[in-house]
Amino acid sequence: MHVTTLDRSRGKAVLYRDLAASLGALLEGETDAIANLANASALLSEALDRINWCGFYLLRGGELVLGPFQGKAACVRIALGKGVCGTAAARRETLVVPDVHAFPGHIACDAASRSEIVVPILEGGRLRGVLDVDAPEPARFDAEDRAGLEAFVAALAPRIAWEAL
Ligand code: SME
Repeated sequence: MHVTTLDRSRGKAVLYRDLAASLGALLEGETDAIANLANASALLSEALDRINWCGFYLLRGGELVLGPFQGKAACVRIALGKGVCGTAAARRETLVVPDVHAFPGHIACDAASRSEIVVPILEGGRLRGVLDVDAPEPARFDAEDRAGLEAFVAALAPRIAWEAL
């Protein structure tokens, strides 16, 4: 397994390009859902600075259930339409929340979280879950993070054996 060295000093566009390459190398030849989601969350945690939580909520039985992540223990079940995660999942669109305290219904798992981005995971037109990243500072995530994390999820989604979950 070869993972590209991630260098934050050359800017976010380069970082996210390298991240996509690292993900490809990391998941090469493997489709196990738990293994790949766990490694993807570890890779993100290593690549992104100034974050306190990153990981996945997976659509199971019509609600979001906690999946592989890096960070403090988190709430396990989130209904569609609830919190930032459930809202992004229900709308099937990325939500960038600069101030979580100003988001109605935000679910506080780690009290340190101040801003958040949630990217829905769609595969073959089906909602599979969300990627959630939290930061301990306001407005941590911008348009480049959004584009980079959407590309990350787009590269990840086809490499997961969703039906086996
Ligand atoms: N803040 C999220 C809940 C998940 S934790 O941040 C890990 C939300 O409002 O949906």
